[in-house]
Amino acid sequence: MRDLVREASVKLGGLVQPLFVVEGTGIRAPISSMPGIARLSGDAAVAECRELLGLGIRAVLLFGIPDFKDAKASSNYDPNGVVQQAIRAIKEAVPELLVIADLCNCEYTDHGHCGIVDARGDVDNDATVELLMRTALTYAHAGVDVIAPSDMMDGRVGAIRHALDDDGFTRVAIMAYSAKYASAFYGPFREAADSAPAFGDRRTYQMDPANAREALREVELDIEEGADFVMVKPALAYLDVVRGVRDAVELPLAVYNVSGEYAMVKAAAQHGWIDEDRVVDEMLLAFARAGADVIITYFAKDYARRHG
Ligand code: PBG
Repeated sequence: MRDLVREASVKLGGLVQPLFVVEGTGIRAPISSMPGIARLSGDAAVAECRELLGLGIRAVLLFGIPDFKDAKASSNYDPNGVVQQAIRAIKEAVPELLVIADLCNCEYTDHGHCGIVDARGDVDNDATVELLMRTALTYAHAGVDVIAPSDMMDGRVGAIRHALDDDGFTRVAIMAYSAKYASAFYGPFREAADSAPAFGDRRTYQMDPANAREALREVELDIEEGADFVMVKPALAYLDVVRGVRDAVELPLAVYNVSGEYAMVKAAAQHGWIDEDRVVDEMLLAFARAGADVIITYFAKDYARRHG
């Protein structure tokens, strides 16, 4: 009877596993604040993707961590950069797997900000958008399926869409991190990606956690500019925003269950304070119930193992 009347459900096909890719070969370097998650070299990422597909996971989200960082994020638009190589290798080995590439500069800049920093120490929105367009094209040339800009610059979705279309990449989709909050829940990610800002914070470009109506405005702008998916991030503390966006728009909606949310569950479970499996199932169900179609979560593989 409960099965008959159950309202929400988590679909395996809607889960996305994030992967951190580094240069080199044979590398699986654990991330201490994210137990069970490692930085992978390209070959290890390919092996991981094969395993994920075998478990029923259909999509991965790639983050590149380059050896070389500078003020212009130049390794981000290198056609043979760490992510470009990983995209090529994965699409060749496991073409059925959807490859989404996160697009941002913070993993590639020596100061850790998401864009070009001007003489006053501010992020230069328009110069950064130029960089994003250039990098997006290198991802498209490498064979990416979806580009996910996570930088929160204004106007970047439209600019990337035009750049892609002009080069004939009309089929590359855009998953916009539309409502991305300036959140303390990204802490472990910044360790994993070595991308903590060297000065200041991201509050001039990421959203104020107090604002929900503004999220709708950000989502509308991204849709007008050509987004194919919109996203709310983080997930747990923002389920009201997820529901608000779900009720306002028809596009597919993604939520990002971020690194700090993962780390909290892992830490409490390691202490024996919570039942990890039950907590994970309850969280993912809550995302679906709030209206998410796509759930990006570091628990994807584990969830597929238990429910596949
Ligand atoms: C890049 C980016 C971040 C995350 C995804 N893309 C970090 C940030 O904005 O500081 C966070 C993901 C996570 O915490 O799991 N801008």
